[in-house]
Amino acid sequence: MKRENVKTIAHISDLHFGRIDSPVAQGLIDDLSERHPTLLVVSGDFTQRARRRQYAAAQDYLKRLPVPQLVVPGNHDVPMFDVVRRFFFPLNRYRQYISADLTPTFQADGIFVLGINTARSFTHKSGWISDAQLADLKQRFLAAPATTLKVLVTHHPFIPPPREPNADTIVGVERYLGELESCGVDMLLAGHLHLAYHDDLRSHYKAARRSILSVQAGTATSTRRRGEPNAYNWITLSPDLCTVAVRAWNGREFEESLVTRYHRIDHVWTAETQVPVDAAAVKAVEEAVPE
Ligand SMILES: [Fe+2]
Ligand SMILES: [Fe+2]
Repeated sequence: MKRENVKTIAHISDLHFGRIDSPVAQGLIDDLSERHPTLLVVSGDFTQRARRRQYAAAQDYLKRLPVPQLVVPGNHDVPMFDVVRRFFFPLNRYRQYISADLTPTFQADGIFVLGINTARSFTHKSGWISDAQLADLKQRFLAAPATTLKVLVTHHPFIPPPREPNADTIVGVERYLGELESCGVDMLLAGHLHLAYHDDLRSHYKAARRSILSVQAGTATSTRRRGEPNAYNWITLSPDLCTVAVRAWNGREFEESLVTRYHRIDHVWTAETQVPVDAAAVKAVEEAVPE
């Protein structure tokens, strides 16, 4: 594999300005400043309540992170209590402060990334993909060369975490699973649940035929932690190997906490056993000790 065919994605999510843990937010900037990802993906929830001040802080923060960036809104980026704004201008502030493009794309040699909005005014929970969005994404993915790795970014996840099978996900995926598969999507990136987990889409959808890797990031910077430390994903991609390294806050800095390698064998993403970094270090020491 030629080195230039290896792409890196820093996948962060759920910043939640308004509920920021400031040392963690600074720690993320420090950690990413030493890294040069091919692309920084932010999968939504920039703010806590879509207030102007929160959006302005998120905008400033984005300027301190690596570029290029591909961003999508989350449900918290739609106003909740301001009903007029919520139903008539749901993403006006998002467009003004974060990005005017609600279907951002990124293309580089061997990779095509598309982001779409799954947040809706009528619900603060599950994610939705409209028929028009589906038609658009199909057209865009089919236009990319077949050998390209195709990545779809949403705020809401397609699959729930293993320990919460009824968690909020995108609604009605079974209905258009075949269409997603036929346009050759290889990987899905999402957030929303503030939990870091990943698996083959087929683990949840029994009707799924294509092996698509579904990767969720925890909350990168907010105090709205759900039993997990703040974290983000450092993803290394080549056509047949994807490494997902969860980088978690340890109280002082972000460090690698869990690394999973997915080999694509006969079109199937196959995970090597997840090894916590500490356990790997212990094992290495044990193996080095003569019997
Ligand atoms: Fe969130
Ligand atoms: Fe969310």
